[in-house]
Amino acid sequence: MNFISMNVVTLLYLVASVCFIQALKGLSSPATARQGNAFGMTGMAIAVVTTIALIMKLKAQMATGSLGYGLVALGVVVGGGIGATLAKRVEMTKMPELVAAMHSLIGLAAVCIAVAAVSEPWAFNIATRDTPLPFGNRLELFIGTFVGAVTFSGSVIAFGKLSGKYKFRLFQGAPVQFAGQHILNLIVALVIIGLGLVFCFDDGIAPAWTPFIVMAALSFVLGVLIIIPIGGADMPVVVSMLNSYSGWAAAGIGFSLNNSMLIIAGSLVGSSGAILSYIMCKAMNRSFFNVILGGFGGEAAAAGGGGSTEQRPVKSGSADDAAFIMANAESVIIVPGYGLAVARAQHALKELTEKLHEKGVTVKYAIHPVAGRMPGHMNVLLAEAEVPYDQVFEMEDINGEFGQADVALILGANDVVNPAAKDPKSPIAGMPILEAYKAKSIIVNKRSMASGYAGLDNELFYQPNTMMVFGDAKKIIEEMVKAVD
Ligand code: TAP
Repeated sequence: MNFISMNVVTLLYLVASVCFIQALKGLSSPATARQGNAFGMTGMAIAVVTTIALIMKLKAQMATGSLGYGLVALGVVVGGGIGATLAKRVEMTKMPELVAAMHSLIGLAAVCIAVAAVSEPWAFNIATRDTPLPFGNRLELFIGTFVGAVTFSGSVIAFGKLSGKYKFRLFQGAPVQFAGQHILNLIVALVIIGLGLVFCFDDGIAPAWTPFIVMAALSFVLGVLIIIPIGGADMPVVVSMLNSYSGWAAAGIGFSLNNSMLIIAGSLVGSSGAILSYIMCKAMNRSFFNVILGGFGGEAAAAGGGGSTEQRPVKSGSADDAAFIMANAESVIIVPGYGLAVARAQHALKELTEKLHEKGVTVKYAIHPVAGRMPGHMNVLLAEAEVPYDQVFEMEDINGEFGQADVALILGANDVVNPAAKDPKSPIAGMPILEAYKAKSIIVNKRSMASGYAGLDNELFYQPNTMMVFGDAKKIIEEMVKAVD
């Protein structure tokens, strides 16, 4: 496998990098997302094939035993098979935990590669058997292990919290907080840095295993410690933050392996994840450092919703009543939420919108940045039903219109329209909401009075101009479609 020259490798890596940048550009809008995905897949295929060819070339040059084609093929078949099966089977609502699980694997891969490089640096071409690891490499391996271990254990906890189906306390959505938590995190972080420096400054031929191993173990612990106090509505920030960490962990491995492709791809993921974290923090009106260090997010938080709330009378009506009100309105703003995705009611909703348009009603969709369970969840859902993009509005563009709207139709959304966000004592205080409470009439469809992801009661449901329509979103919307006819 000596047919590939380093110039060709560099050129192919450059092409793959351009594909990744085009992928990010494409994924920034639902209209171009498919194209973006195609670029991403092409870039990844080029990067993988080029890297395999490069490994074969280097191994042939080093003449170290078997070339390992079998192992590479096994990795591609087993890893690719698991990935393809998971991607095919996963429901849209389970995507966030799948993403968290994937992040954890990237973190674990970074740690494994760092351990291998510390153990046998000559196999990675970064030292010979008779020379110590250079200081720069030791530093990279320390940082790579630290970021990778934090990413791994943090992502495992995030996975548990997002799936909301495990009894284990650390996997519950409710935050785990205790006295002296911040101090403990700080001490653990300082010890990790101290041990990392001991490892870096030891220039013996045999690596300083003890500080390295203790540092790695404490990094796993720190990953758990920084994610457990975050709960409820602040989980979107965690998902995007771990996304960023996984990118930096990959970039770290790139430095250890001296692989420019991994450095570029890792940096792209790391920086786009950091930008996403910033957008999420802005959407939630949170300070990034407060979320990471403070772990606020609701003493009342109970991920996955389902916590029943206080028993107070509400006005309820049927799908027919709701259809009558909407058919006689001039303008309707629809607020989709997580429940719409659970019910897979997007196609029925599009039909309802078309029927209302035929009756001369202006219908717009209002999208909250953290509606659903992953960034862009509602945009993806509506795009699946081919809802025209010009009917879909982001929060800051539509919030001013609720005051003039005849009807706000809230479908499986809860936290993103909860006026409790205006109460400084509420766990979601300060989070910007879609101001549906200002509409002349409010119709809310959900199955019960259960709370949303943040586990909070919603005053909007008790407003005198609110009508609750209880039932599964798909069934109710289909009934509305029939009633509008
Ligand atoms: P939620 O506040 O979670 O409320 C969803 C509501 O949908 C629930 O109250 C539930 O009530 C209802 N529902 C569930 N299944 C339904 C069905 N089949 N038919 C009709 N209704 C159904 O959703 P949201 O308003 O979209 O807010 C999202 C929340 O998730 C925020 O707190 C956000 O911070 C958090 N979060 C977001 C992300 C990202 S990145 N977007 C990631 C993690 C967490 P019933 O059980 O009574 O039906």
